[in-house]
Amino acid sequence: MMAPGQSVTALRVDDLKVSFRSQRGIARAVRGVSFHVNSGETLGLVGESGSGKSVTALTVIGMVRDSLNARVEGSVKLGDEELLGKSDADFRAIRRTRMSMVVQDPLSSLNPAYTIGNQVMESLSLAGVRRRAEARSGAVDLLESMRIPGAKDRLKSYPHEFSGGMRQRTVSAMALAGSPEVLIADEPTTALDVTMEAAYLDVLKSVISERRLGVLFITHDLGVVSRMCDRVAVMYAGRIVELGDVEQILFEPGHPYTRALLRAVPSISGSSRIVGVPGSPSSPYSTVVGCPFADRCWLYEALGRPQRCVEEAPPLATDVGYVGADADDGEHLSACHFHDECRQWPDDEL
Ligand SMILES: Nc1ncnc2c1ncn2[C@@H]1O[C@H](COP(=O)(O)OP(=O)(O)OP(=O)(O)O)[C@@H](O)[C@H]1O
Ligand SMILES: [Mg+2]
Repeated sequence: MMAPGQSVTALRVDDLKVSFRSQRGIARAVRGVSFHVNSGETLGLVGESGSGKSVTALTVIGMVRDSLNARVEGSVKLGDEELLGKSDADFRAIRRTRMSMVVQDPLSSLNPAYTIGNQVMESLSLAGVRRRAEARSGAVDLLESMRIPGAKDRLKSYPHEFSGGMRQRTVSAMALAGSPEVLIADEPTTALDVTMEAAYLDVLKSVISERRLGVLFITHDLGVVSRMCDRVAVMYAGRIVELGDVEQILFEPGHPYTRALLRAVPSISGSSRIVGVPGSPSSPYSTVVGCPFADRCWLYEALGRPQRCVEEAPPLATDVGYVGADADDGEHLSACHFHDECRQWPDDEL
């Protein structure tokens, strides 16, 4: 028996590497990423475009598999079960019942020719619900759990009759059809306006806690991070460069890239897209000896270009510690040789 409040690891990713063979050479999209997500917990995955967030998610859920064009190494465990190396059919079964994904554009997951009811019932039937009446009442329950008003009457509606926010709720309801343990959300609110986004996130948040889902939440938006996430992993060029509790990441960042991201954002309260960190992102085709961020790093410059930064790759192993009130919080890791300097550097000198 599990003690109440004890945390259960829903998903554990260990040293995941994903590369693609293309005409330009080998694109290393994910270069050794490790993290875990507990049940009932939301881990944010943030970082600029091309940092490898979606490829990580797609590999976890088995849409990218080791094949002629892609090489996948490492470990992905759902509960105690290793997923890497499973067949396509196994992954399809897993996606129907144990782990599902919600993406940016809900229209791409809905068929315009079928009613909402048909499509939600279909997800239930794929998840093993055999009787039609049961699927029907189950569909109403799912739509109600995503707080779609008048769910019963809306079964007959078509996707085009729904607003963007209602479509995203529908798709999310479908993602819950198999009572998954893990949910992956890849920028689920990008297509929504601010009001719809706020309402959708509220609903999603209560569903996550009611169902004790383990959630991997990919976003560019640090406002969404502060609203949704318990812990955050910051990705840069296919690696996690910082990992910690949401407060640690937002208020005590221990990696110069995270500080630059936060600086690129006017305020974490309103809408706060990552507008950009100076310099251009590192290419998936490049091989780097030292720190991959050194060529864009303000701290590297400020410290007079220490040799160490370009000679020695900093591992994500340094426990940064927490100078705030709550010293017992979870681990806070930074892949920076100078994480202390980073944390203490005055804001106006960035
Ligand atoms: N099939 C492929 N062949 C070659 N390179 C690829 C392939 N798929 C993805 N990549 C590269 O892998 C890197 C990571 O891509 P990914 O889509 O994971 O980024 P992301 O962090 O999700 O970005 P965004 O915020 O724009 O969604 C990018 O440089 C991308 O160009
Ligand atoms: Mg992406």
